[in-house]
Amino acid sequence: MPEARRPLETPNIKAPIQGNDEGIPTPHGDIGAEVYRKRRQRLMEQMGSGVAVIYAADSIGAGKRQNSDFYYLTGLAYEAGAVLVLAPEHPQYQEQLFLRTLEVEDNRWHGIRPMLGRAVELGTGIARVSRTANMPILLNRTILQCKSRELVYLGDFATYNRPVSKELQLYRDIQSRILNCSIRDEHKILPRMRSLHDQDEIKLMQHAIDASVSAYKAAMHAVKPGMNERELMHVFERTLHENGCNSFAYEPIVGSGPNNWVLHYTANNRTMNAGEMVLCDVGGEYQMYAADLTRTFPVDGKFTPRQREIHDVVQEAWQTTVDMCKPGMTWVELNDAARRVIDKAGFADEYYHSLGHFLGLDVHDVGLDTEHLQPGQVLTIEPGVYIASENIGVRTEDDILITDTGCKVLSKDLPRSASEIEAFMAR
Ligand code: GLY
Ligand code: MN
Ligand code: MN
Repeated sequence: MPEARRPLETPNIKAPIQGNDEGIPTPHGDIGAEVYRKRRQRLMEQMGSGVAVIYAADSIGAGKRQNSDFYYLTGLAYEAGAVLVLAPEHPQYQEQLFLRTLEVEDNRWHGIRPMLGRAVELGTGIARVSRTANMPILLNRTILQCKSRELVYLGDFATYNRPVSKELQLYRDIQSRILNCSIRDEHKILPRMRSLHDQDEIKLMQHAIDASVSAYKAAMHAVKPGMNERELMHVFERTLHENGCNSFAYEPIVGSGPNNWVLHYTANNRTMNAGEMVLCDVGGEYQMYAADLTRTFPVDGKFTPRQREIHDVVQEAWQTTVDMCKPGMTWVELNDAARRVIDKAGFADEYYHSLGHFLGLDVHDVGLDTEHLQPGQVLTIEPGVYIASENIGVRTEDDILITDTGCKVLSKDLPRSASEIEAFMAR
């Protein structure tokens, strides 16, 4: 499903603060600088030696947001062009932050950015803060002063038809200039760390999910025959905004009738009719964390017998797999279980995507999906059945926290089964 984030359009909501009152870049939101410092420490312990470079996003705004690894390690949400350099074995320069050069005219386009100084260092918890213009020389010096001469690659590997990542390209450029410099692959450290959410993160995710649950409830009550999908989308949008979200976590899907079975339908502009269902896949983003929920409900409040039959199959696949969610389980086992239920019901060719994914800062979040599930991970469970010849499609998606003993459905307050949905819509 699409991942570009679109800011909510509803007016009268304050833009996110960029830094504190003095315009100094500080971690934004409820997670403090100390947490970001501890994350960097934990990452460096696992790196052991070498130098790692993590780029922020090139540009931020207009649907583009901070690179999630960079945000996870710094809490800086609005520092386009910044770079974090970590060097655990260096005696003085373990952490260096490079911020984009200050250009006076740039302020007119993007707001005032601060001069460098002690306040910036305190705000970020990083002692060495400098401008990106100084990065080439300081990075060279750091590498030469680290005995290992290793460049540690923390990013994911792109397929051959995608651009080489900025970090890897930089490492190669450095290698062609500094002798005996090797590149070490540590692409699993950050996905492993990021997928094990602590209580502070779970709180933010729960907020995003609760706001999304409220938005669904408002939408289920607002929907009626003759309404346009876009109007319904605006009900979601408004409710998410009222509940503290700044943006959708991904491009929302509001697809009625023949749009039920179009997995990536985002036009959201058809008039809905009685007798049809609308499949909504909508989630809010709160302090950079995503919710990701799907419900399929009847436009006139009542499922037809055939719609209910299909909804019930999806519900059974959902319940079967959620019942299995616990530490030690694998994605393969979960996927197989959902498929067994749907195949047995006679819809083998009508379910053509996988069961779910990790959720966190990104809607399709990082995580090692070949390893066993662990407490602290949050996943989506989202089975579906799509019958194009009947213009019917159903998907149900919830956000599930793996706990020490099993799991917790973070979106449990949203009506799910066909009967629950009908009863809720009748209220
Ligand atoms: N909304 C994206 C997904 O369900 O994966
Ligand atoms: Mn999903
Ligand atoms: Mn979804």
